Amino acid sequence: MASEKSSPLAGRHILLGITGSIAAYKAAMLCRLLKREGAEVQVVMTALAKQFITPLTMATLSRRPILVEFFDPENGAWNSHVSLGEWADCYLIAPATANTLAKMAQGVADNLLLTTYLSARCPVMVAPAMDLDMYAHYTTQRNLAELAAHGVSIVEPGSGELASGLEGKGRMAEPEEIVEALKTHFTEKKKPLTGRHFVVTAGATIEPIDPVRYITNHSSGKMGYAIADELARAGARVTLVSGRTALATPVGVERVDVLTAEEMYQAAKQAFAEADGAVMCAAVADYTPMEVATSKIKKTDEEEGMTLRLKRTKDIAAELGAAKGERLLVGFALETDNEQAHAEQKLVKKNFDFVVLNSLRDAGAGFRGDTNKVTFVDCKGQEALPLMSKQEVARRIVEKIASLLAK
Ligand code: PMT
Repeated sequence: MASEKSSPLAGRHILLGITGSIAAYKAAMLCRLLKREGAEVQVVMTALAKQFITPLTMATLSRRPILVEFFDPENGAWNSHVSLGEWADCYLIAPATANTLAKMAQGVADNLLLTTYLSARCPVMVAPAMDLDMYAHYTTQRNLAELAAHGVSIVEPGSGELASGLEGKGRMAEPEEIVEALKTHFTEKKKPLTGRHFVVTAGATIEPIDPVRYITNHSSGKMGYAIADELARAGARVTLVSGRTALATPVGVERVDVLTAEEMYQAAKQAFAEADGAVMCAAVADYTPMEVATSKIKKTDEEEGMTLRLKRTKDIAAELGAAKGERLLVGFALETDNEQAHAEQKLVKKNFDFVVLNSLRDAGAGFRGDTNKVTFVDCKGQEALPLMSKQEVARRIVEKIASLLAK
């Protein structure tokens, strides 16, 4: 173990939140380890947590009085959640029950531990602890994704025997692992897009003709999802406005599902209003049927075929480009001929900061596959990249975004 002086936790103020879980007994060891590393520890408990571990134990180990209520009923002294949040270098909630995680995700503030979360400006880390079915439940997973998307770090629970006697994932991480996660947090380099919010459009839109048929294209969403993933890895908050796809949502990304170009426009516009930028990777229908039939269109025996009347959809990128102000806007251009000229036109017409050009004439580029071959085009010129995985293309796009924002 690192000596107190060399530990990245030495002198750090750790606010330790304990909620009502059987794993609360591990908080005693956690507090001891933090103290050994030289951290100052202030414990906040929920009322239920006191049933699992006594305030006397935690006060003795942390060498500070424990805080549970908003004020001390004996003398009326006020426990200020605001100053607790200001004091802390990190707010660690361990164990964090499904109930507390749900309240955090919803902004419920019905105890001191939660009001402190709402007012904390410091980084927040949670170590979930619960039964395997509660952990796997979609609401818990949705709440964790929501918290992660807003910058809360999650120390994943382990698998093994649970208090219920069942086996599975849900055991709170061991105190040693949580201390390691905290040390990493204090030593790791700040991510380049921390504090930034980006919108990504991805996948194909679907324009209904009747209840049975629709107009769409070949986009799988892979390119856009890789970009959302890399933006989140670089520390950004990401809103992914997605057409229909079978892909899983990248960790820490908020996803808004849409169907039509109009729905994508509304969702992208709303998210862009409070974002620092957007990457427009979706393949959006440029035309949609003038009318959507309410029942299935029947075929006829007439030889001349049928006419489907279409109208223009909104150009989402151009609309955001016209209103972008100081924000960064990255566009794609998918071409089949005259690639460079078309990309340059889109750069200007849609007010993009740069365009990611891909051509269907290049093998391994464009729709569906796991690779792409792109050229970055901006007002200064172009940079052609070799064929590479879509994930690597996404990483290069995010690097370019980070360098533009750093200027
Ligand atoms: O999803 P994959 O299978 O991985 O495939 C990836 C991809 C080929 C879809 C992707 O690499 C790509 O090229 N996306 C853009 C496709 C496209 O529609 O390009 P475009 O040249 O028609 O449009 C130019 C730009 O305007 C794009 O940023 C597009 O998102 C945007 N646009 C276009 C029309 C419209 N109505 N609204 C828009 O926002």
